[in-house]
Amino acid sequence: MKFAILFSLLFASYAAAINIKFVNKCSFPVWAAVGKAANGQPDRSVAWGQKINANGGSGSFGVGDKQIGIRAWGRTGCQENGTGCKTGGCVGGLTCTDAGLNSGVIVSEYGFGDFGQFGGQRTAWDLSRVGLSINLDTSLASSDGKKVTCRKNNCPKDQAYDTWDDYAADRNSPLGQTYTHTFCA
Ligand SMILES: *[C@@H]1O[C@H](CO)[C@@H](O)[C@H](O)[C@H]1NC(C)=O
Repeated sequence: MKFAILFSLLFASYAAAINIKFVNKCSFPVWAAVGKAANGQPDRSVAWGQKINANGGSGSFGVGDKQIGIRAWGRTGCQENGTGCKTGGCVGGLTCTDAGLNSGVIVSEYGFGDFGQFGGQRTAWDLSRVGLSINLDTSLASSDGKKVTCRKNNCPKDQAYDTWDDYAADRNSPLGQTYTHTFCA
């Protein structure tokens, strides 16, 4: 019995993940995508895509707590199968093979960080529009109560990276949170 409990604790810890939840408040469908590109290199081991229905549809995807270089975004005006998008399109279709490096639109970003004496193991996260267009008004909220918002007509530097050194846009939270990425926020 004791062994079974220990085993399940170990397994729970191994399977720990952040949860990226997409909520679509737009009046049109959005094709959500998640990819991994640590140091700018697409890594197809983390890739997911799903059509999120208009007017309140949602979908979510779990990513291991220790992953780095995770990015998520929304695509608009696509064919049902995720190809031919008007904004945010990628190489690969519904599930992107390029981690969205060709998509050109605002992303949410997530990565494991060890802050040592300043908080230990955490998830660093943000919105970024560095070199990207804002195709959708976007907010990103963590389940521990933080939130950033970037809209086409109002995207302050402390809400989303605009240049690589906008560190005021950085957020971090304990491991295992749910992050709600909202389209048409
Ligand atoms: C996706 O759908 C479009 C339009 O129906 C079609 O032309 C295309 O071949 C499809 N692509 C894939 C990969 O299924």
